[in-house]
Amino acid sequence: MDTAAEITYRNPPVADKDRYQPFNPNNRCMEADMKIQVRKGSLAEHETEAAVVTHFEGETGLEGAAALLDERSGGLIGDIIRLGDFTGRTNQISVIYTRDGFPVKRIVIAGLGKRADFTLERLRGSYAKAAQQIRSLNIGEFSSALHFRGIDLPLERMAEGVVEGVLLGLYRFLPFKTVDREPNHEIAGFTLLESDEAAYKAVRAAAKTAGIIAAAVSFARDIVSTPANEMTPTDLANEARESAKGKNIRCTVLDAEQMRKLGMNALLGVARGSHAPPQLITLEYRGGKKSSPVIALVGKGITFDSGGISIKPSEKMDLMKTDMAGGAAVIAAVRAAAELGLPLNLVGIVPATENLPGGNAYKPGDILTSLSGRTIEVVTTDAEGRLILADALTYAGRYKPAAIIDLATLTGACVVALGDHVIGMMGTDDGLKQEIREAADLTGEKVWELPLWEEYHELIKGDAADYKNSGGRAGGAITAAAFLSKFTGDTPWVHLDIAGPAWLTKEKPYIPKGASGVGVRLLVQFLRNRYPIGKK
Ligand code: BES
Ligand code: MN
Ligand code: ZN
Repeated sequence: MDTAAEITYRNPPVADKDRYQPFNPNNRCMEADMKIQVRKGSLAEHETEAAVVTHFEGETGLEGAAALLDERSGGLIGDIIRLGDFTGRTNQISVIYTRDGFPVKRIVIAGLGKRADFTLERLRGSYAKAAQQIRSLNIGEFSSALHFRGIDLPLERMAEGVVEGVLLGLYRFLPFKTVDREPNHEIAGFTLLESDEAAYKAVRAAAKTAGIIAAAVSFARDIVSTPANEMTPTDLANEARESAKGKNIRCTVLDAEQMRKLGMNALLGVARGSHAPPQLITLEYRGGKKSSPVIALVGKGITFDSGGISIKPSEKMDLMKTDMAGGAAVIAAVRAAAELGLPLNLVGIVPATENLPGGNAYKPGDILTSLSGRTIEVVTTDAEGRLILADALTYAGRYKPAAIIDLATLTGACVVALGDHVIGMMGTDDGLKQEIREAADLTGEKVWELPLWEEYHELIKGDAADYKNSGGRAGGAITAAAFLSKFTGDTPWVHLDIAGPAWLTKEKPYIPKGASGVGVRLLVQFLRNRYPIGKK
């Protein structure tokens, strides 16, 4: 591919028309198609365009593959460290060029920060940064090896971290770019070398797992980034159907008429202001015994939130295309669970609709009778997420699940309380909350609990109806969760408010600016911990 020509493109020539389609849904998450290989062998003897090695800050000695590469290359790595050009600080990247027919053409050395501060998060980040550097140099393929001594983490976890870092760090959303494109160079392959026979098998399995999970995260990012005109409730349902194809997943979509018959009037109330028909998406994965209970995942699927009649300020309203990030995470997590073959029964439920102020829109003061039979007074049409979730949570209850976890870009108040980087967690079951915390620690998707005390429940008691859909500004994230709790019965339940971390205005090492795909890795890790492969 002639990248130089691409940078200067302004008006694509007619001959290239096919390559520059304004929107091609098949042209998404390109790097997810990158070939990941695990090979037996030594990095220092492997023919490759670039070999990535890592280094801890302030250390002079080299270990593992770095030591070997240094020795074989006549001390090239030692030199750059000794000269101080490379210190190993977090995410620092230097490229070293070899010569004289050395099988490794470039050594890319990535800083990991201080050894004492090592985390999987650091590892993911430094491999993401190395991969991005390699891509910016137009290099088509690269390799690496795991070579840590004295780090108290299983090799599989590190291998997963490396592959996730590479794939997630290279993610870009380009389907709508037609002019002024950045160099659209892609890396075709990444090879992990492992010389130890026993470790090789473990690394192979870990790379496969990480590939599945990263592809699911990229899928969620794509859906969230795709604007609301191209990602209507119907489009979202089609994405769900598509993701179920060829897997042990059954996708069912209820239309408005079916929802009306069931009595999902909270969801239908929200949908009334839009011409786009609402959809209730369910994905059932049966990977466990017939008799085993189900885990239910519920995700908010507002494909655009204008606020409705209680309309939002226009500034940044464009970001409300991301109001289905919870739904996207649920669809992606079910897909990953099925691809991993996790031994459990799982149902994903995504209520999907737009929230618009059309002539038939629901109005402040309206009272809606939810699927549960409970009545809800609409204080503001902008608190629409909890309304569609109320019906979806009641619907989830019909599966008699062992646990319900919902994900939603539910409240601005959660962002005010915890900032952009943290998922707000509330729920009714301490054990389940602890499991989520453990998954959060492993994935780096930070979670912090907010209380659900009795006082908050007072604030959403209705005047004319049973409940009202807003408890006011104070404690807004919590009163939203208190509202949801009215629809989860006795089922152990956790609510995750992802309004902050669903969309990044500033990139992180392995999360480019934009849709983060938050929640996918957290959910999958939670499921893997609870239902490890090999135990039915
Ligand atoms: N989708 C929004 C919450 C949101 C805000 C998500 C910012 C992502 C970024 C939600 O539907 C909403 O509008 N919530 C209101 C609730 C209020 C009216 C009770 C909010 O947080 O202001
Ligand atoms: Mn809203
Ligand atoms: Zn919303």
